[in-house]
Amino acid sequence: MSDEPLVLGIETSCDETGVGIVRGGTLLADAVASSLEEHARFGGVVPEVASRAHLEAMIPSVDRACETAGIRLADVDAISVTSGPGLAGALLVGVAAAKALALGLGKPLYGVNHLAAHVAVDTLEHGPLPEPCVSLLVSGGHSSLLLVEDVTDTVDPLGSTVDDAAGEAFDKVARLLGLPFPGGPYVDREAKAGDSAYVRFPRGLTGQRDLARHRFDFSFSGLKTAVARWVETRERAGEPVPVADVAASFQEAVCDVLTRKAVDACRTRGVDDLLIGGGVAANSRLRAMAEERCAAAGIRLRVPRPKLCTDNGAMVAALGAQMLARGRTASRLDLVADSSLPVTTVAG
Ligand code: KG4
Ligand code: ZN
Repeated sequence: MSDEPLVLGIETSCDETGVGIVRGGTLLADAVASSLEEHARFGGVVPEVASRAHLEAMIPSVDRACETAGIRLADVDAISVTSGPGLAGALLVGVAAAKALALGLGKPLYGVNHLAAHVAVDTLEHGPLPEPCVSLLVSGGHSSLLLVEDVTDTVDPLGSTVDDAAGEAFDKVARLLGLPFPGGPYVDREAKAGDSAYVRFPRGLTGQRDLARHRFDFSFSGLKTAVARWVETRERAGEPVPVADVAASFQEAVCDVLTRKAVDACRTRGVDDLLIGGGVAANSRLRAMAEERCAAAGIRLRVPRPKLCTDNGAMVAALGAQMLARGRTASRLDLVADSSLPVTTVAG
């Protein structure tokens, strides 16, 4: 068996309780318990409900991960945990659990940044990260373009959303169209049967004036409003809403902006590798458009499989393993959960 370190990673920044186990760059277990169903009737994640669910799922998830990996807790060489950004109460559960494990086992603790973990997870599927790389992280909670020089140390934000996250826009538009929560996968599915050129929805922050100040930033709230107005106008006129066509047209606008800005970021920074992560990276149109545009621009594209793109513990374990491999200092046991941990702080 490889003598690479065995790392257990804990993720609780939103509604997924994730416990992952890796040995070096190899994924051994990825236990995820989601409280999504408990939030569905509210149309969004309720922080208190998420915290309580983490508390209930933590120990069973740790047990399940160890069982799947075929290891005993005592075999673990280090514990890593998302210390931010995310929901304060939810993060607290993961950080407290990680500290208890580290202390109980006498092993080092690594508090890590959730966004950097979304980048590091790709090592489990595609091997060592090309550094520097540009990373487009798009989920229900974040939409950022990052320049990753060293995933364990130097991550620079190039831009982020000025209002809604990309996944949030998918969820809100899905709601407008009468689709279930979380809406992304349903919009994706509907869009397959729709005409993406049916309505030309606005592409936020892509005009000349906006580009001067917000070249790598995103804005999706104007797009969401445009979809709402369009649907309302149809409904007021007593006409049916062509759900598939609206879904496809909306999705086209989001994917167009995301891929255009990501490719522009690579070109501007002279970087040849783009990595896409976060729940929205599961979107079929985003993947296809990114492939086309990266190929045309001579950029290598890496997108982890969907299960690794959404929040999970394996990504935290993967970053912990990188921290160990690169000799980074472990966190202290008074590590705090920081709901607004800046992306530039990789180690909590
Ligand atoms: O990364 P994630 O699981 O959790 C957050 O950190 O938010 O991302 C969830 C988001 C949701 O907004 C969901 O609608 C979106 O990712 N999503 C998708 C797709 N699958 C999930 N959006 C568009 N197309 C998809 N296929
Ligand atoms: Zn995330």
